This record gives sequence, structure tokens and C-alpha cells, in this order.
Amino acid sequence: MLKFWMAPGGLHVEPAETGDAKEMARIHGQSFYRGWPSSDFISFVEDKASPAYVACDARRRIAGFALIRMVADEAELLTIAVDPKWRGKGVGRALMDAVFADLMLSPVRRMFLEVDEQNTAAVRLYETLGFSTISSRKGYYARPDGSAATALVMARDLG
Ligand SMILES: CC(C)(COP(=O)(O)OP(=O)(O)OC[C@H]1O[C@@H](n2cnc3c(N)ncnc32)[C@H](O)[C@@H]1OP(=O)(O)O)[C@@H](O)C(=O)NCCC(=O)NCCS
Repeated sequence: MLKFWMAPGGLHVEPAETGDAKEMARIHGQSFYRGWPSSDFISFVEDKASPAYVACDARRRIAGFALIRMVADEAELLTIAVDPKWRGKGVGRALMDAVFADLMLSPVRRMFLEVDEQNTAAVRLYETLGFSTISSRKGYYARPDGSAATALVMARDLG
């Protein structure tokens, strides 16, 4: 089945391919204090249990990606990141909408994620997508200055 979802700015969302791993690692590294090597993204992309999605143009220039992990009827958002020059244009929302649309074809009926409570952009994005906070984990994330940040655990039912 061809999987293709429209996104703003002339972009579209489709499943990630092995050749996208380097760009995913680059965008991830620009977005988080601790980056992941592209070999990690190759492993995720090639594992059916961790579907990955890219927002890209017709020449496959990647603006952002989302990565999830599925276990039985639950899914976890492992990470989502949008290239800084593409942020605030609806790409993150389009990626999440594509994830939800694709998960509707799977047994997954509930989705979880963890987010730094001070990451306003991400928390707002998840709230507007219908996620609500179910618990919090103190000291979950390490900050560059050595301090620790609290993670919110958020969940949303699908379908
Ligand atoms: C979080 C992130 C993926 C959002 O992607 P994006 O493409 O910029 O988001 P969108 O343009 O689709 O915005 C969707 C909604 O998110 C919220 N949002 C996005 N950026 C925001 C900001 N800077 N401040 C407040 N709310 C924001 C808004 O509710 C927005 O809806 P609106 O435009 O109708 O107001 C992006 O900021 C990013 O890559 N951040 C770094 C990585 C990261 O923190 N990932 C999440 C880890 S849990």
C-alpha cells in the first residue's frame, strides 16, 4: 500500500527509508542535547516494530521526522523533530497526523509519550492533538548544565 500524506509547505509525509537515517540523525542532533548516531536510525527504520515517518519534499529533502515503537495495542512516540528552519509551519502536526492515520490500520489503540515539562512547543503540540498528562517523572532528563528536568507522561486514545 502506498503511504503518503500531504503536509504544509509543499511537503508530504511518508515512511522513512534506510537512506534517510543520516538526515534524521542530523535533525535529531540539532534538536536535542544528546544526539543519536545515524546507525541507531538505520536500526529503527529497518525494524517493523518501530515505524518511522519523514516529512520531505519531492526531492526527499527532509524537514522533520517522527519515530514510534509499537507493542501489541500500544504505541510510544520515541522522538519527533523538525529542522529549526521548518519549525512553526505545521510540519510537526502533519507528522503526528500521519502517525495517527497509519496507526488506525494497526491494532494500536493507545499512544504514550514522554516530554520535558519545560518544552513548551512540544507540550502545546501534544495538547492540541488530544494528549493529556497521566503522570510525571522527576529528574528524568539531564540538562547540559547538569541539572535534571521533569518528564510528563502523556497519553491519547486512538480511534
Ligand atoms: C516540537 C516540534 C516537533 C514541533 O514541530 P513544529 O513543526 O514546529 O510544530 P507545528 O508548526 O506543527 O505546530 C503545531 C502546534 O504545536 C504548538 N507549537 C509549536 N511550536 C510552538 C512554540 N514555539 N510555542 C508554543 N506552541 C508551539 C502549537 O500549538 C502549534 O499549533 P498552532 O500553530 O496552531 O498554534 C519542534 O518544535 C521541534 O522539533 N522541537 C525540537 C525537538 C523536540 O523538542 N521534540 C519533542 C520531544 S518530546
